[in-house]
Amino acid sequence: MSTPEQTEASGRLPAHPAVPPRLARFYDKLRAPGYGGDYNPEQWGPQVHDEDIRLMREAGVSLVTLGIFGWARSEPVPGEYDFGWLDGHMDRLAGAGIAVSLATMTASPPPWLPERHPETLPVLQDGTTLYPGSRQHWCPSSPVYREHATRLVAELARHYADHPALALWHIGNEFGCHISRHCHCPVSTEAFRRWLRERYGTVDALNDAWSTDFWSQRYTGFEQILTPRTAPSFRNPIQQLDYQRFCSDELLACYLAEREVLDRITPGTPVTTNFVPVAKTLDLFSWAPHLDVVSYDSYPDPHDASAFQRTAFSYDVMRGLRGGQPWLLLEQAPSAVNWRRRNGRKPSGRMRLDSWQAVAHGADAVLFFQWRASRGGAEKFHSAMVPHGGPDTRIHREVAALGAELAGHADLLGSVPARAEVALLLDWPNWWALELDAHPADLDMLGTALAHHKPFHDASVATDVVPVTADLAPYKLLVVPNLYSVSTAAAARLAAYVHGGGTLVMSFFSGITDEHDRVHLGGYPAPFRELLGVRVEEFDPGADGSWAEVIHLEGAEAVESFDSGGPSVTRHSHGAGTAWYLGTRPRPAAMRELMDRVRAEAGVGPVLPDLPEGTYARTRVTADGTPVHVLLTEATGEVAVRRG
Ligand code: GAL
Ligand code: ZN
Repeated sequence: MSTPEQTEASGRLPAHPAVPPRLARFYDKLRAPGYGGDYNPEQWGPQVHDEDIRLMREAGVSLVTLGIFGWARSEPVPGEYDFGWLDGHMDRLAGAGIAVSLATMTASPPPWLPERHPETLPVLQDGTTLYPGSRQHWCPSSPVYREHATRLVAELARHYADHPALALWHIGNEFGCHISRHCHCPVSTEAFRRWLRERYGTVDALNDAWSTDFWSQRYTGFEQILTPRTAPSFRNPIQQLDYQRFCSDELLACYLAEREVLDRITPGTPVTTNFVPVAKTLDLFSWAPHLDVVSYDSYPDPHDASAFQRTAFSYDVMRGLRGGQPWLLLEQAPSAVNWRRRNGRKPSGRMRLDSWQAVAHGADAVLFFQWRASRGGAEKFHSAMVPHGGPDTRIHREVAALGAELAGHADLLGSVPARAEVALLLDWPNWWALELDAHPADLDMLGTALAHHKPFHDASVATDVVPVTADLAPYKLLVVPNLYSVSTAAAARLAAYVHGGGTLVMSFFSGITDEHDRVHLGGYPAPFRELLGVRVEEFDPGADGSWAEVIHLEGAEAVESFDSGGPSVTRHSHGAGTAWYLGTRPRPAAMRELMDRVRAEAGVGPVLPDLPEGTYARTRVTADGTPVHVLLTEATGEVAVRRG
């Protein structure tokens, strides 16, 4: 049986208000930022297992994720559990002083589940069934899947509750990473109706919110409502938007069902799940409160010149999810992945640079997928900490060198990432709404967010990524890209922030619809007209991908104008603060110039003065109050760590 958690906080627990005390079990098992990877020993025999432990020790491995795809071995026959295959690995790892993030094994059910219960298989919008044979072939709404999953989790938790290697639970794996996240089967359809009933109460309220008088869509009962399936033309936008909300909630319910079991049986062991590279799928701000620590998988494309800044942005998102609490990089590739069309390798030094980038942005662990390259299966050409060529390889030597290096920075473990002066607003429901079809042009939330993040990144100005509900007062500057769909209440919060003295930069096509994707009437952008001192009369997207608006000044001054004459960038004093509006999508150089000006006015500077162009820095503060600056230079791969 499990023992309840020791409540005394660990000396290494980050001094951050959002850090739950149960993380002590995790931090107590580490001496420096965690280092390691996904460990899949079930793919190998005893000889390899012995070598694994020896090589892990030599490479400075302190943390591994175990058992992600272990369901088929652990429950070979329905209801008969056998963790014998795993016991020896847990014991050996404990003996070597390596902590385990133990997966709940529910990401991929064994073949007998769909064999006995074909109704657990997900169905696409066109009716196609997704069959077993790869992974994640389960319907997020299936009570049968959830029942089998939670039974397994209970057995597993009871079995390992007091195991000395257990540091952290890793629920499922990358929730929503595959197309099975959007299920349209009869069970999901029923679940969607239940979700809608709860949200709207009556079918008339739904008709109103969904604007169903358009195109004769008026419903007379919830039983008529379907998930948004393949249809002759554009589907109802709010039906699509609510379905996205529902899908995120259904996966969260799967996570919570497992979490509830773990909380009951092992209340002293912290819980996480690894998020996929910043994606549209899940509303991560609604998930994050249910994790004890945020975990992330990062796969920058070595062929993509913008990958470094994209990654910086994604790390800012991860740090922002729990209000600045350190997070864990649970997966990255030591070199190439195998799932792009062309899979570039990371040149020498790049893996080290990428890893330090994560630490600079607040990561308390650097892990890889995976420890040893698989011999068979779909991922055999994915790089690993131990390549097919064994330890005498460039990649393994670099892996071992980084392990030794990170072990020398013990004080970084649990150090608190310094708060930024700039906040960038991100809102998943807005992301979903913005990218719906039948808009003036195709819009790209991530692209726009990255374009607004880049001028700060390039100038080594730190940015926090925050939700609409965040406490904005501590920030000098708030950047709000494409906030197309916004409630009146949220809009009022932004206005209050500026009124109280903040500086805000808002960009085009913001404040257009409410949370039901109904246009805010009264002239665009109605909820922000007074704040911005402008009225937008028309949108004018160009054939070249440009965006223009016909803007009338209502108190704001024109800072820049379109060639055709009207204002393109405006500035407005509102209360004690200033609101800028970009009715356009400037090119990168112009964007940089503009943001340099905005932040100079707002009194926002870089993390460190006098950094050369191309080098950026982030700061963490250790337990004894020492600031540690990590300086990163992409072009040369240089990493410098400065204390004090
Ligand atoms: C992740 C996944 C891992 C592995 C990896 C390969 O999405 O969690 O199991 O498939 O990708 O890059
Ligand atoms: Zn389903």
